[in-house]
Amino acid sequence: MKTTIADLGDLTGKKVLIRVDFNVPLDKVSGEIKNDRRIRGAIPTIKALLKAGASVIAMSHLGRPSGDPAKDKLLTMDKVAHRLGDLLEVPVSKAGNAVVGPDVSTAVTALPPGGVMMLENVRFDPREQKNDAAFAAAIAALGDAYVNDAFGTCHNDKDASMVAVPAAMKAAGKPRAVGLLVAKELEVITGLMGSPKSPLLAVMGGAKVSDKIAFINALLKKVDHLLIGGKMAYTFLKATGKDVGSTQVAAEELAAAQPLLQFVGSKITLPVDALAAKSDDLNTTQVFAGDIAAGFEGVDIGPKTLALYADKIKQAGTVIWNGPVGWFEKPAFSTGTKGIAAAMANSGAVTVVGGGETAEAVEQFGFDTQMTHVSTGGGAFLAYVEGKKFQSLAQIDDV
Ligand code: 3PG
Ligand code: MG
Repeated sequence: MKTTIADLGDLTGKKVLIRVDFNVPLDKVSGEIKNDRRIRGAIPTIKALLKAGASVIAMSHLGRPSGDPAKDKLLTMDKVAHRLGDLLEVPVSKAGNAVVGPDVSTAVTALPPGGVMMLENVRFDPREQKNDAAFAAAIAALGDAYVNDAFGTCHNDKDASMVAVPAAMKAAGKPRAVGLLVAKELEVITGLMGSPKSPLLAVMGGAKVSDKIAFINALLKKVDHLLIGGKMAYTFLKATGKDVGSTQVAAEELAAAQPLLQFVGSKITLPVDALAAKSDDLNTTQVFAGDIAAGFEGVDIGPKTLALYADKIKQAGTVIWNGPVGWFEKPAFSTGTKGIAAAMANSGAVTVVGGGETAEAVEQFGFDTQMTHVSTGGGAFLAYVEGKKFQSLAQIDDV
């Protein structure tokens, strides 16, 4: 087990630097926060630190800044800091317009016990993603202790705020710990892959097989059944010789699916029907069992598939789900994804949902509180399930 914030003891008068993953989805035009789940996820840790007498300096990245100020202005931390303040019910300001520098140091020095502030988007400094030691030292100097509560970013081995900063704190003899969110994620996912209640069932959706090949291979070693949905299902169906109509399937995706075909019919179950929409008129839909007609593209699993998958979920001891099974953002194509979420919510199984989009779908349909665990990780969730070792967590001592 990793050192947790409880092990940090009395923090009266201490400044705690906390790396959070406030990389929240933003509206492309207005920059408004579309979903603040990741901010809410870190609130218990921040509150606990404040209760222990600390002041808190929070830092995160937001999006993938391009270096072009006009494009990047939506990625400043102001809105996130504001939302954090609303959720904590304490005012939260942003410490200057650069990530580090004299303005930030002055603001941090003036931060009173019980105060909270946010650094600017750490990726506004190009040194962040180079794991730069000098940049890390400047950040590390701001705090007396370091907390990693950024599960969604834990797999990034080259981010200074995740790796070089805690390394610099360690070198300076300053304590480091994981926050409550990271501790919970590690506990649940480790248990899930280590000693799952059987049968262990995985539901997998999303667009690309190639993106998730390592994850699928890791799952196949552990799970009893893997149910496939989403866009990737058409790749598998096409690879097994089915006609998928006008659904776009790239050649490299077919190649990625090839080595997995040996499991189809045993461990891997593919959809038996599809809801398809006319490519030139999405309002015209039809359910196809077997081949999809030309001019139509698959947009959701069909009703027979949903019934089949829901039944398997009902019989499972543990269900792990990553990737929507249809184009759920469109209400007409959301039946499958909503149905999978409902089946999981109503089952007696241990249910774990991972991946940003999947978590959003579950929350949108109102089933999030009925799941055992909804991870805040996207890529991090996949990588942790795969069994990858994270450099970020290596900087936090075991107890
Ligand atoms: C994520 O959402 O995957 C994390 O916040 C990490 O962001 P990144 O994919 O841009 O590194
Ligand atoms: Mg990512």
